[in-house]
Amino acid sequence: MSYSQYFLFGIYPYIALAIFLLGSLVRFDREQYTWKSDSSQLLRSGQLRLGSNLFHIGVLFLFFGHFVGMLTPHFVYEPFISSGAKQILAMVSGGTAGVLAFIGLSLLLHRRLTEPRIRATSKPSDVLILLLLWLQLALGLATIPLSAQHLDGSMMLRLAEWAQHIVTFRSGAVEMLAGTGWVFKTHLFLGMTIFLVFPFTRLVHVWSGFAATTYAARAWQLVRPRG
Ligand code: HEM
Repeated sequence: MSYSQYFLFGIYPYIALAIFLLGSLVRFDREQYTWKSDSSQLLRSGQLRLGSNLFHIGVLFLFFGHFVGMLTPHFVYEPFISSGAKQILAMVSGGTAGVLAFIGLSLLLHRRLTEPRIRATSKPSDVLILLLLWLQLALGLATIPLSAQHLDGSMMLRLAEWAQHIVTFRSGAVEMLAGTGWVFKTHLFLGMTIFLVFPFTRLVHVWSGFAATTYAARAWQLVRPRG
């Protein structure tokens, strides 16, 4: 493996994750009033409801699918499902969610670029993040026909091993990617780049979206009327 491969897949992940975590913390601490999803519903609600819903349903499924699928050690699921069956499950469910998210994001991108009022109020980072996510979804979908050429799950296992080596600070992560095609590698690189730019964009609302689930278990509020 060349030095550039070591940098891109052995060092860059840590740069991206460090900026993601520390950058989010600093932004939350210093710039509370910019911590929002920056809704554009008031400017144009048409196309938003369908686009945003399709995109969020798809991307949330993909987020948790990647999280569980990539980070669950092989020995945990081995007794229940073979690698080949897991790969097909990932291709079918991830492919469906990917198509939904891709259609939704295309609608969001279209309205952001063609509606003059939204265009005028968009920050460069609003357009950049849509383009990055769009490209990432396209690359993710492009991996499906490639995976279909080897249905034994071996490629998926190596990619998951790479991710697990990275998050557990083990050496040998980059070697797992030997012989992996450029579509997979670009998808990995862009995925890490999305973590890197996350704190500087409206994506910070994702932290709050997940944190909002604690609402279901929050303490009662006691409201006592005067008198
Ligand atoms: C955790 C749960 C989440 C919640 C509750 C949530 C909520 C929202 C809300 C309220 C908006 C504003 C929509 C409007 O204009 O009115 C929004 C926009 C957006 N969200 Fe999320 N979101 C979540 C997760 C995610 C994830 C995981 C991603 C991508 C990785 C994402 C990416 C985006 C993007 C790119 C926009 C801007 C779309 C546009 O108007 O151009 N969100 N989200």
